[in-house]
Amino acid sequence: MEIFYDFYNNEVKLSFEDHPFSKHPKHVWVICKYKNQWLLTEHKERGLEFPGGKVEEDETAEQAAIREVQEETGGTVNKLTYIGQYFVAGKGGTIIKNVYFAVIDRLQQQETYYETYGPVLFDELPTNVARDKRFSFMMKDGVLPNSMEQIDKMKL
Ligand code: GTP
Repeated sequence: MEIFYDFYNNEVKLSFEDHPFSKHPKHVWVICKYKNQWLLTEHKERGLEFPGGKVEEDETAEQAAIREVQEETGGTVNKLTYIGQYFVAGKGGTIIKNVYFAVIDRLQQQETYYETYGPVLFDELPTNVARDKRFSFMMKDGVLPNSMEQIDKMKL
């Protein structure tokens, strides 16, 4: 388990065990690969981030992951792999989020990308994401680098 502090100085606990904090987390975050590129979305307020969001009442976390990728990027998930889970102790409460890796096989243009401006592709993520104003706070703590390392280890 990794413990660190995020952009807002909230404590974050990250683990690559099988659902260590909750079997039914209410949030999901999906690290997406489209062909040889990383597929992000540009959130209207937060900026560039991997897609994700809240799990709705009648869906599983996996279903939410697939839906959020579709809504925020127009991407169709071909293969979804659970990577880990993190717990954020925020000022206004705590959240638990599943991290997934998704292989996207189709990117379709759509009328709306909901609360985002839609897909943004990167050959490589910049090394200084944490100090880059274009990127969302969600990309600026230990979750991203540790998850990328785990994805490498799992040879995904
Ligand atoms: P609403 O009911 O829609 O307000 O959502 P919520 O309160 O269940 O969760 P929300 O997504 O608003 O997140 C609450 C707080 O948790 C945010 O203000 C952030 O401080 C923190 N948070 C949410 N997602 C992340 C994340 O991916 N990383 C980090 N470090 N903090 C997060």
